[in-house]
Amino acid sequence: MSTQTTTEAKMSSDGLLKNQVALVTGSGRGIGLAIARKLASSGAQAIITDISQEAADAGAKELKDSGLKADAFVCNVTDTDSIEKMTQAVIEKYGKIDILVNNAGITRDTLIMRMKLEDWNLVIETNLSSVFKVSQIVLKHMSKAEYGRIVNIASVIGIHGNVGQANYAAAKGGVIALTKTIAKEYAKRNVTCNAIAPGFIDTAMTQKLKPEIKEQYMKFIPLGRFGQPEDVAKLAHFFCTGGSYITGQAIEVDGGMFM
Ligand SMILES: NC(=O)c1ccc[n+]([C@@H]2O[C@H](COP(=O)([O-])OP(=O)(O)OC[C@H]3O[C@@H](n4cnc5c(N)ncnc54)[C@H](O)[C@@H]3O)[C@@H](O)[C@H]2O)c1
Repeated sequence: MSTQTTTEAKMSSDGLLKNQVALVTGSGRGIGLAIARKLASSGAQAIITDISQEAADAGAKELKDSGLKADAFVCNVTDTDSIEKMTQAVIEKYGKIDILVNNAGITRDTLIMRMKLEDWNLVIETNLSSVFKVSQIVLKHMSKAEYGRIVNIASVIGIHGNVGQANYAAAKGGVIALTKTIAKEYAKRNVTCNAIAPGFIDTAMTQKLKPEIKEQYMKFIPLGRFGQPEDVAKLAHFFCTGGSYITGQAIEVDGGMFM
């Protein structure tokens, strides 16, 4: 069977994700939860992981309450031990990981002159080094299976930069470069790796911004609304279903903010 046929066989003709295991980091809420929901809606077994068991349980419960397949595992993406334990537990229970969405992320915004080294390091560890660590472990399994879909949640800030977000911009820019490198190293193993660069999405992360800052952002969004987590989830879903000939890309989902 050719690689393409094997790939297509793993996806049903209508693009559903039956029998696939989809691990999403930081999916207790927000964009991660919306992605897990969208993948599970196509039949995938969603693996909800978050920094606390409570957060992961809350996300998994939401999906299960709507009849979707979801399981919760605690995983702090800054802690190598925690990543190893979580992935081992998932493999023991489900035998494989077909889809990995590196979504967990934080902000610690301030101007460069005021940025403490610990806030620089924390954002780099949480938003960038975690993507390397989780992918490195999961890729072993995908490589053996000769199948995998990795979707990294970057940001438009990682492409364009932003005042007050040196740590975040550097981390997300790094995620895009890492995405292209994974795509190149693992293409032969039938693993695709793409990044999504969301603009302003309405989640807890942006809800904490001051109203005047939000108004400023809105002026630069031609489509005239903030994005919803589902807007990002649709593209993640596409990368995992119809996107078998797309790899190493970073696509902006930003209502036209940057074009
Ligand atoms: N909201 C936006 O406008 C926007 C824009 C561009 C990119 N993003 C990115 O999207 C991703 C999701 O963000 P969101 O907007 O849903 O934010 P959110 O704060 O609602 O969700 C982030 C999730 O990550 C989890 N998390 C944080 N640190 C973690 C850790 N160390 N280990 C495991 N989980 C951890 C949180 O508990 C939370 O569930 C992030 O990577 C963020 O940078 C968001």
